[in-house]
Amino acid sequence: MLNIGVLGVGELTEKIVIGLRRSGFSGRVLLSPRNNDRARELGRLWACEIAQNNQSVVDDCDLLFLGVRPEAVEQLANEVQLKPEQTLVSLVAGMSIGELEHSFPNARHVRAMLSYAAQINQSTVVVTPGGQPHESLLGALGSLIVIDQEDAFELATVAACMNGWFYFFLGDLQEWFTGKGLSHEQAAELVMGNMQDCLTSARHQPHVSMEVLGGRIATPGTFTSAGLEKLRKNGAMLAWRDACDEVFARMRKDV
Ligand SMILES: NC(=O)c1ccc[n+]([C@@H]2O[C@H](COP(=O)([O-])OP(=O)(O)OC[C@H]3O[C@@H](n4cnc5c(N)ncnc54)[C@H](OP(=O)(O)O)[C@@H]3O)[C@@H](O)[C@H]2O)c1
Repeated sequence: MLNIGVLGVGELTEKIVIGLRRSGFSGRVLLSPRNNDRARELGRLWACEIAQNNQSVVDDCDLLFLGVRPEAVEQLANEVQLKPEQTLVSLVAGMSIGELEHSFPNARHVRAMLSYAAQINQSTVVVTPGGQPHESLLGALGSLIVIDQEDAFELATVAACMNGWFYFFLGDLQEWFTGKGLSHEQAAELVMGNMQDCLTSARHQPHVSMEVLGGRIATPGTFTSAGLEKLRKNGAMLAWRDACDEVFARMRKDV
């Protein structure tokens, strides 16, 4: 049975640990001791052990998750020495395999990108490169997409950001309804329900483009079409593309 270690117990790695346990993973899970309250809570609820220090996590585990923020990687790398060919699954956004190799020589490097839905095993999970054992492990957290080229993987990070933006987008729409007098529950149901309908319908017809599907609803003279025109006129669509460009450029360190 595989032993798993977490270097950097934070928002994202917490969800991963919960998802792994929910998926039935019964191996040892060792946590780095920093952020002790969160680690202790995970230990109590999801049968994890807190290691004495980061090196003990490395020594006692087969596969490691790297869950610190980019600016903390170097300090962490100075604290530990990985075993030759030990799998290190990095969640660190924008840090290339080349950079990881520099910080953690000898390790077998994998990059993964996922969302908080990992805790309920329903995340989109993007990984590069493919292989075992990480594919089986991460696949248990949702729908796995294996990407061979690292450039393409960076785009997955933009998608992960979209995931965050969607909450604000949907929240804003809900607020419009509550401002008009609907209850929070009604507003949430209307917004999420209609978003869900759109997703379900699109997934049901994967070979029909979104543009065509939308165009069938926003036919000339409809209320939908009138609203769409307003959105386009106000640059709403362009603003989303602009945000994607911004994140992508930052990741590629173009800005
Ligand atoms: N959150 C997301 O949705 C998301 C999505 C995609 C990718 N990511 C990536 O995932 C990584 C973690 O993000 P997050 O939001 O989960 O961050 P977070 O909540 O800040 O978690 C990072 C954790 O690492 C700890 N840490 C820092 N230095 C350490 C060290 N030397 N040894 C052990 N632990 C250390 C931090 O402790 P302190 O708080 O004490 O510093 C913190 O508990 C980031 O690199 C980010 O790019 C996150």
